[in-house]
Amino acid sequence: MAARKLAAGNWKMNGTRAALAEIDQILTEAQPGCDLLICPPATLIHAVATKGIPTGGQDCHANPSGAHTGDIAADQLRDAGASHVILGHSERRTDHAETDAAVAAKAVAAHQAGLIAVICVGETEAQRDAGETLDVIAAQLAGSVPDCATAANTVLAYEPVWAIGTGRTPTNEQIAEVHALMRDRLSARFADGADMTLLYGGSVKPGNAADIFAIPHVNGALVGGASLKASDFSPIIAAL
Ligand code: G3H
Repeated sequence: MAARKLAAGNWKMNGTRAALAEIDQILTEAQPGCDLLICPPATLIHAVATKGIPTGGQDCHANPSGAHTGDIAADQLRDAGASHVILGHSERRTDHAETDAAVAAKAVAAHQAGLIAVICVGETEAQRDAGETLDVIAAQLAGSVPDCATAANTVLAYEPVWAIGTGRTPTNEQIAEVHALMRDRLSARFADGADMTLLYGGSVKPGNAADIFAIPHVNGALVGGASLKASDFSPIIAAL
């Protein structure tokens, strides 16, 4: 089995029911040669899933239920129609102080609920400038990806923090270097690590998608801002 190609949209805290028209437009325009995924706000998961497009949450709690006001359990995401959940996004790591261990615990909960975990890693600009990128990514992979991960239940996303929402992207060589490291580390640790889907995320746009998708071990993208409009996301899907 080869790594599956995936075009994933992370709507973050954007979108109300009016935005569902964009899903209709994507489904009308796109004839994807890859898997699709939309991760809307939790309020829209059921509505997006009902349209027949694979749908993901943007976080889940590590516990299956309990007194955790404002949180959402993996099984609740699944019940709403989700097949995936993004975990360890840098905005969660920053805004909610999520550690690698917390991300790994959430991934175990996601797997137990039958969800595919999309686990994010990425260095800050200060870490890149200090020459620490590969060490940071290796440590995040080791700490955030649980032992129960397989190519069927886990997707990895490399998202340099400084490239998210900034219009800046690493060079192709920098992306290639990190993805090669990820493939090496995952292949060394997991029997099917060579088949795990590896995404790039951070200012992916229609104009740079094809170049990024041509980089070895880049199996798709986790797209933020450009996934909000079908006119942007459809050409990215087509480029994969
Ligand atoms: O999850 C998506 C990433 O944070 C990328 O966001 O495409 O807006 O840079 P962006």
